[in-house]
Amino acid sequence: MSRLIIVSNRIPGKSPAAGGLAVALKKTLSTRDGFWFGWSGSFSEKPEKKARFETIDGLRIGQIDLTRADHAAYYAGFSNSILWPAFHLRLDLTDIQSHWYEGYRGVNAQFADALVEEIEPGDIIWVHDYHLIPLATELRRRNIRNRIGFYLHIPFPTPDALNAIPHHEDLLKDLVAYDLVGFQAHRDLVAFNEFIAHEQIVAETGGKPFVVDPGDTVLDVFPIGSDPEAFARLGKSAAAQKMYNRVARGLNGRALVLGVDRLDYSKGLPQRISAYEKLLENNASLRRTVHMIQIAPPSRDTIKEYQVISDELDSAVGRVIGKFSEPDWLPLTYVKRAYGQASLAGLYRLARVGLVTPLRDGMNLVAHEYVGAQDPEDPGVLVLSRFAGAAEIFHDALIINPFDTDETAEAMRQALVMPLEERKQRWRNLMDAAQEHNVDNWAESYLDALAHGHAASSPGDDDTPGTRPHATTHGAAGKPGTPRTSIASRMPFFPWLRSVFS
Ligand code: G6P
Repeated sequence: MSRLIIVSNRIPGKSPAAGGLAVALKKTLSTRDGFWFGWSGSFSEKPEKKARFETIDGLRIGQIDLTRADHAAYYAGFSNSILWPAFHLRLDLTDIQSHWYEGYRGVNAQFADALVEEIEPGDIIWVHDYHLIPLATELRRRNIRNRIGFYLHIPFPTPDALNAIPHHEDLLKDLVAYDLVGFQAHRDLVAFNEFIAHEQIVAETGGKPFVVDPGDTVLDVFPIGSDPEAFARLGKSAAAQKMYNRVARGLNGRALVLGVDRLDYSKGLPQRISAYEKLLENNASLRRTVHMIQIAPPSRDTIKEYQVISDELDSAVGRVIGKFSEPDWLPLTYVKRAYGQASLAGLYRLARVGLVTPLRDGMNLVAHEYVGAQDPEDPGVLVLSRFAGAAEIFHDALIINPFDTDETAEAMRQALVMPLEERKQRWRNLMDAAQEHNVDNWAESYLDALAHGHAASSPGDDDTPGTRPHATTHGAAGKPGTPRTSIASRMPFFPWLRSVFS
């Protein structure tokens, strides 16, 4: 089996951790040769060009330092003040400073310089997320001919949002320098196609289109998952039980409504608190019978918009506490710090309602973990935003529009009063979906497609597009030598695009 090189901005075992991504990929890497490469988490005014290696948690990790200035332009600047808000359709929150682009490309070039020294023929390179879109271009410039794949963990933007990003034409060219581009949801592939369609209209109306030629690049959907069985075990572990008991004692029989999110404006936290406020306002009988816990560890707090959302959340929480609290009952607990997976699994298991209500999200692995940790005999109910990638998989959640706080409040009420039989049935279906889309199937199907150059699934092969198990697809179709499928041949809804690409 070829060696696997995983590349991401953050590396596992360093603080802050690479989060869901680390959990997802650790297992894959532990079963094959190779290494994980990324930023060390440290600054240096004269970073070594060459990667230094260490073993962390049994994984071989290659890393480089960055200068503070480069990191600021690449991470807080271009990645998280331009790409992140634009990809999440928050153009109002972008801070467009084009000069950050130089730092962004520069760091990608530094990653490439360090990596070329380590890459051997036959290695498969898997690059993760929006920080590293130009990496394949940089590696190709350095004569790397290995197969290189990219996986986008966040949503792909609409044409207008993409057009608002400085140098977006370069970024699109960078994407098609990969052999395989993987998205979380069909929505994202549709958005990519929509950009191409939009440029076609520009051409037809006499404008100057930007033509991106995908050549042999395959673009496809690979919804990421978790390890639901591991979460089920974790939910029953001693550490989880400890947290469960501690919180259950405080609840004293009240139903727990739980949210766990990084403190980010894409997560819809003020809207969620407003929806909870409406729940209590409209259903006086539910007061004193429920308690909400919102866990939101701060994130990217050097960026102004993150300070703003933090203040906004403080004020929304204060408003609800002031409005409804009684001397012996608090409606809401807000915890602004991170917890380990076992403690979270205990909380998930205790929660009657799991709130995953982002305004826009790649997948959202909290939804998967919440499902995995439930007690099959007394499961909670998942209230899920239609704008999370997870909504394409979890049809048995209560699906809501997070901008509509009345609808979210009503879903919370339904979840709180839902009969046990319905909760069990819905949970069984959610768990089946979580198992079908588990992290092993995800990694295996992506790597299989990357190694052999084929698409994960073709619309029309299955009468339930968007829900097909990729691993099964590859079991049937993923044989070495399967002809590559370019995006043009995967566009049944935009047949005229073939002419653009041919
Ligand atoms: C999202 C991104 C990841 C990122 C994580 C934490 O999930 O898709 O790439 O690592 O957020 O954000 P941070 O900026 O702390 O790495």
